[in-house]
This record gives sequence, structure tokens and C-alpha cells, in this order.
Amino acid sequence: MKIMRQLSGLFIVVCLIFSMTGCGNSSPFDENNTDVQESGAEQSTETSAVDAEPDAGTDVLVAYFSATGNTKAAAERIAELTGGEIYEIAPADSYTEEDLDYSNDQSRTSQEMDNPDVRPEIGSEDIVMDGFTTLYLGYPIWHGQAPRIMSTFVEHYNFDGLTVIPFCTSGGSGIGSSAETLEDLAGSGNWLEGERFNSGVSKEEVQTWIENLQE
Ligand SMILES: Cc1cc2nc3c(=O)[nH]c(=O)nc-3n(C[C@H](O)[C@H](O)[C@H](O)COP(=O)(O)O)c2cc1C
Repeated sequence: MKIMRQLSGLFIVVCLIFSMTGCGNSSPFDENNTDVQESGAEQSTETSAVDAEPDAGTDVLVAYFSATGNTKAAAERIAELTGGEIYEIAPADSYTEEDLDYSNDQSRTSQEMDNPDVRPEIGSEDIVMDGFTTLYLGYPIWHGQAPRIMSTFVEHYNFDGLTVIPFCTSGGSGIGSSAETLEDLAGSGNWLEGERFNSGVSKEEVQTWIENLQE
């Protein structure tokens, strides 16, 4: 019986420590969400500017080209945070490792980036833009610019009525004039300032960027 009393005393002390330290509220996104903390409800992004779950009836489209997966990962984070529909701008003739050799002047990508008139064909099916109001448009930086397939994409569609938000990933270069070049080629749409991400961009960084866009 003495042992039982000691054990129950220990249990009460542990419970008190837990209730005082508030263990479990460790998400940085909930720090200012007092509604959620006070009600003791599970962590939720309902009060956030962006939704966590993809929505079939979304008006957000996230279109991207990615040769080695970095921009794809950033696009997926954006789609997850906005509930947007995702669309891959896939080349009809996909890029091999040899094609992507930027140190070789004769590689396919070097040749394409040398010639602003090249328009690599898109292999993915056309997407119907009707119903979307926001387009996140992603690509990697190649030789300081957007890959030429992005020129093919922006010249193919009409962005009237759409807010276009360019984003890119790179090994270190900034977004430079790549987004302005695409905007000029598109000739339609309300283009916001673009953003450049590191290849391993975190969900938190993407979320902060999106929330600031909507302010
Ligand atoms: C052909 C080629 C050219 C590149 N040129 C640049 C460049 O000018 N500046 C830079 O910072 N990174 C450059 N990179 C690196 C890519 O921008 C970077 O790895 C990017 O995240 C790749 O995106 P992806 O995985 O979506 O294709 C280049 C990569 C390739 C393949």
C-alpha cells in the first residue's frame, strides 16, 4: 500500500509539471494562434491565410518545369499550402544528364540558352486556365535565365484575369530578369514580383513567402 501511495503521488507531480510547461505546443505556426491554444483544439491552419488540404474546386494553379526535382519540390510545397492544383510543364523530349551539362558549350541546354528563339515542345497535355485566378509559375535558373520551355509555356496561354506569381530555384543565382522576360513574352496577366528559393527550401520558408504575398 505504501508503494501504491508513493506511485500515485509521483503521477500527480508529473501531471502538474506537464500542465505548467504546456508540453505539446511546439509548432512555430501556432505561436500567434491563441484561439487554437486556448480552446485546446488540435493544431489547425484554418485561421491561416492558406489552406493545408488540396481542394478540388481550387482557383490556384501551380505550374512548374523541373529537370532534376528541386523546383518540383518547391511547387509541391506551394500546392500543399495553397490547396492549389499542380501541373507539370514536361518537355516532349526530356533532358538527359548529358543535355543538362552546363559546363559543356555544346550540350543541348547550353545551345538552347544561347538562342532566345528556341521553343522546346511541351509534352504534357494542355491545361484549361478557365476558373483559375492565381498562377504560381516555377522553373529552375539556367544560365541566369528561365529555361526556354518556359517561353514556350507563357507564349502558349492567355493569362488575362490571372495573377501570375513567378518562383524559381537555383544553385545560387538570383531570379534576375528571368521573370520580367517571361512577363514580356506572355503579354498578359497581372505579374507579381518573383521569388528565388534554394533547392532545399523548407515548408516554413514557402509559407512565410505566401502569407506575405497575401498581405
Ligand atoms: C543547364 C543548367 C544551367 C544552370 N545554370 C545555373 C545558373 O546560371 N545559376 C545558378 O545558380 N544555378 C544554375 N543551375 C542550377 C539549377 O538552377 C538548380 O540546380 C535548380 O535548383 C535546378 O532545378 P530543378 O531540379 O527543378 O531542375 C543550372 C543547372 C542546369 C542544369
